[in-house]
Amino acid sequence: MKVAVLGAAGGIGQALALLLKNHLPAGSDLSLYDIAPVTPGVAADLSHIPTPVKVVGFSGEDPSPALEGADIVLISAGVARKPGMDRADLFNVNAGIVKNLIEKAAAACPQACIGIITNPVNTTVPIAAEVLKKAGVYDKNKLFGITTLDVIRAETFVAEAKGLDVTQVKVPVIGGHSGVTILPLLSQVEGVSFSDEEIEKLTYRIQNAGTEVVEAKAGGGSATLSMGQAACRFALSLVKAMQGEANVVECTYVDGGSEHAQFFAQPVLLGKNGVEKVLPYGAVSAYEQAAMDGMLETLRGDIEKGVEFVNQ
Ligand SMILES: NC(=O)c1ccc[n+]([C@@H]2O[C@H](COP(=O)([O-])OP(=O)(O)OC[C@H]3O[C@@H](n4cnc5c(N)ncnc54)[C@H](O)[C@@H]3O)[C@@H](O)[C@H]2O)c1
Repeated sequence: MKVAVLGAAGGIGQALALLLKNHLPAGSDLSLYDIAPVTPGVAADLSHIPTPVKVVGFSGEDPSPALEGADIVLISAGVARKPGMDRADLFNVNAGIVKNLIEKAAAACPQACIGIITNPVNTTVPIAAEVLKKAGVYDKNKLFGITTLDVIRAETFVAEAKGLDVTQVKVPVIGGHSGVTILPLLSQVEGVSFSDEEIEKLTYRIQNAGTEVVEAKAGGGSATLSMGQAACRFALSLVKAMQGEANVVECTYVDGGSEHAQFFAQPVLLGKNGVEKVLPYGAVSAYEQAAMDGMLETLRGDIEKGVEFVNQ
């Protein structure tokens, strides 16, 4: 398995690369790319860790050498939020970066599964889809918006609030990856019940957890370490499924599985070729249904913006 990380010298990229160096299956290749000249050094640094994962690093304008033969491409290249910004404010810079990188991936590794971390995910994933369509290599089963950070935050906050073993808590998070489009299905958490007030508070906290980190970092960026962990969890699930393990399910933002919007995050069964099956997210409470109804206009607008950006 060859995994390429684009944006590998950044806060997320370095954390993710460290985790992948330690947790990818023996014999895997880890390929790092970033425009920053430090990237071969990041790879050299990681290469001294005694695990059976080979790591190489590339910098400069062209990501192609890092992408050749990749099975999985993870993209965290771009700018991150500063206090006062929401994810949509990143659109102007990050849309172009994702478009360019996907054009290169379409040429260098058209069969690869691609996971997008770069925000605004609601929009950068549709951008990637449109670019891949133009290149004639789009497979909707191989493109993912990585929303796993919302899932691990939800698991952490629910466990904290209810005094549960955090390793056992499962919380599906559906919709998209910003503000009101993030919808944790607290009604589906097994073995606990929540008061209306708890549901309001937890939902709000999960939706705004990114801003908690942005403000605490006081201008120094957004979530990087927890995001590195989230992306590693998603990538390892994808690797396992691609190598034939059964019943691997993650919530992720994918194309074509939902009646609500073209792209929607929900539980997805992963398989050898990426999405095996988009799973139903099950019964939701009245509160969750209202939140869903309330998010759709925003989510559909975010998607439309991405489609227009590529086709304008
Ligand atoms: N999906 C999520 O849940 C989630 C969570 C947190 C952050 N993010 C997003 O991830 C992105 C990266 O965040 P970060 O904290 O690592 O930022 P960062 O600034 O630390 O790192 C970004 C890296 O991208 C590189 N880069 C910029 N343009 C590039 C290009 N054209 N090609 C290759 N590399 C390029 C930069 O050199 C830098 O090393 C941001 O868009 C952020 O909003 C997503």
